[in-house]
Amino acid sequence: MLFIYFLTVLAFLMSCQGNCPTRCVCDSSKSVHCYRVTTVPKAIPTDTRKLHLGHNNIKQLRASDFGGLYGIEELAMSSCGMEATEAHTFSTLMNLRTLELWKNKLRNVPSKLPSNVEVLKLGNNQIQALCETDFEGMAKLKILDLQNNKISKIHSSVLSSALKLESLVLDSNSLELLSGPLKLPYLKRLSMKNNRLSSLPSNFFSFLPSLHFLFLSGNVFCKIPKNMPPLLWSLKMDKNLISELQVQDLKYLSHLFELSLSENQLSTANDALALTNLSIVDLSKNQLRAVPTRLPARLQMLDCSHNFIQHVTLQEFSGLCELKHLFLEYNNITIIDVDALQHCLQLSDLALERNQLSSFPKGLPDTLIRLDLKGNNITDICKETVENMKRLRVLNLRNNRLSSLNPDVLGYFPRLRQLYLDGNPWNCTCDLMKIRVLLTARQLEIKSGYCATPAYYRGEMWLSSNKMLNSCGYNTIHGVQGKAFLEIAAKKAQEDDRSNINGPTDNEDYYDYDAD
Ligand SMILES: *[C@@H]1O[C@H](CO)[C@@H](O)[C@H](O)[C@H]1NC(C)=O
Ligand SMILES: *[C@@H]1O[C@H](CO)[C@@H](O)[C@H](O)[C@H]1NC(C)=O
Ligand SMILES: *[C@@H]1O[C@H](CO)[C@@H](O)[C@H](O)[C@H]1NC(C)=O
Ligand SMILES: *[C@@H]1O[C@H](CO)[C@@H](O)[C@H](O)[C@H]1NC(C)=O
Repeated sequence: MLFIYFLTVLAFLMSCQGNCPTRCVCDSSKSVHCYRVTTVPKAIPTDTRKLHLGHNNIKQLRASDFGGLYGIEELAMSSCGMEATEAHTFSTLMNLRTLELWKNKLRNVPSKLPSNVEVLKLGNNQIQALCETDFEGMAKLKILDLQNNKISKIHSSVLSSALKLESLVLDSNSLELLSGPLKLPYLKRLSMKNNRLSSLPSNFFSFLPSLHFLFLSGNVFCKIPKNMPPLLWSLKMDKNLISELQVQDLKYLSHLFELSLSENQLSTANDALALTNLSIVDLSKNQLRAVPTRLPARLQMLDCSHNFIQHVTLQEFSGLCELKHLFLEYNNITIIDVDALQHCLQLSDLALERNQLSSFPKGLPDTLIRLDLKGNNITDICKETVENMKRLRVLNLRNNRLSSLNPDVLGYFPRLRQLYLDGNPWNCTCDLMKIRVLLTARQLEIKSGYCATPAYYRGEMWLSSNKMLNSCGYNTIHGVQGKAFLEIAAKKAQEDDRSNINGPTDNEDYYDYDAD
């Protein structure tokens, strides 16, 4: 149906644009889209500014293909199966600003590209080498994307004409060697993720004074590169082989805001992170045995998940009053000092799942909105530890060792929306029915789990079990109305719990909440 509509529109557009080639749509903004063509159509209007030939099957381009189309500013030819272009194919397009040749089968950068091009996208091709002349005269080039090719080295002179370059993307090539410095005074963003780089030439950054974003994830660096530009704002080196982070490695980067070193081999990062503006730090999946000392004062997000941390101390977190998100899941934490996080007066998100805590942490800040404690070894929750949790909306206690819950505790979570209690060995006494009454009276999404004891109730879902309801005498004590209420609540609880019928898993839960 949609297709017929589309054809009708197509036919209509074609009929009122007398000089639009067949299989093309020409619109009033001087933009031409062509579909199902195997060559560049003849007779494209000479005043065309944007020519979209993407997703066709055009294997070759000839020098004459764009003859006369001097006005083209934007040419998009992605996904055309293009294998080659004749010399000078593009050289007459003197107004061309954007050239997209993404996802073709080109083995070389097309020769003689026009000098006004600002954006050149050559990603997902089969380019193996860059030649001295490839970007000759392209003094206006700002964005060059060469990701997903087969380039193994880059000679420093290759980009010597592209003095205005601001963004260079070389992700997913086979880069092993970079020779000498790149002289690119305006380069702001350099991305070389997923290559085979182990080091950079010592003077590599000497002529990159404007570099703000440096992405080197997925290489084989054993060390942080030296002499990075002082204006650097974001450094990402995930998935490398870095085993050491020393104070002098980052010390001079006073503008650094974001640092990502996930999936390396760091056993410590002590004292190295004390930078004025550093706010986002990812050290997950390393070999840290403790939270790094001297964390930066402006830290907002710290991810130390998937390490070997055992103990969380007050000293580590004192003074971090801007910290909002703290991820410590999948460690070996047995102890969190009382009040360790008391200075973190903006902390809203605390992840402690899959550690070895045997009790609910004491003295957590009252700003918490989400607290994940699943997969620990918590046996009970005493009132004093949770007194302050007045903003908490999500509490995950799945897969712990809780068998009972003090009914008073629930009063300390006035804003709770999601509560996960499944995977605990619940002792289904009639006391637990009091909790059930309190829980079902509130607008909560709950997973309660099953009774473990007494044997008589084993396998009953305590939030919805009619067996418990009857034998605890709720139908007589609370009268007909009370019973009806509990039955409705039980039905809802059963629906909530149905997805979980095979017992709780430890998969990532999806938390739907807004911070206020
Ligand atoms: C640190 O960040 C603030 C704003 O967040 C900015 O004004 C200041 O210039 C930055 N300092 C450095 C050294 O980058
Ligand atoms: C983590 O804790 C467990 C249990 O205490 C212990 O067996 C294991 O060796 C610890 N792992 C590390 C890396 O400390
Ligand atoms: C969990 O706590 C119990 C005691 O409550 C203890 O015997 C057991 O070793 C703990 N398990 C772990 C993995 O720490
Ligand atoms: C369950 O609770 C009852 C009543 O408080 C108690 O007698 C019993 O020992 C508890 N069972 C377990 C396994 O904790």
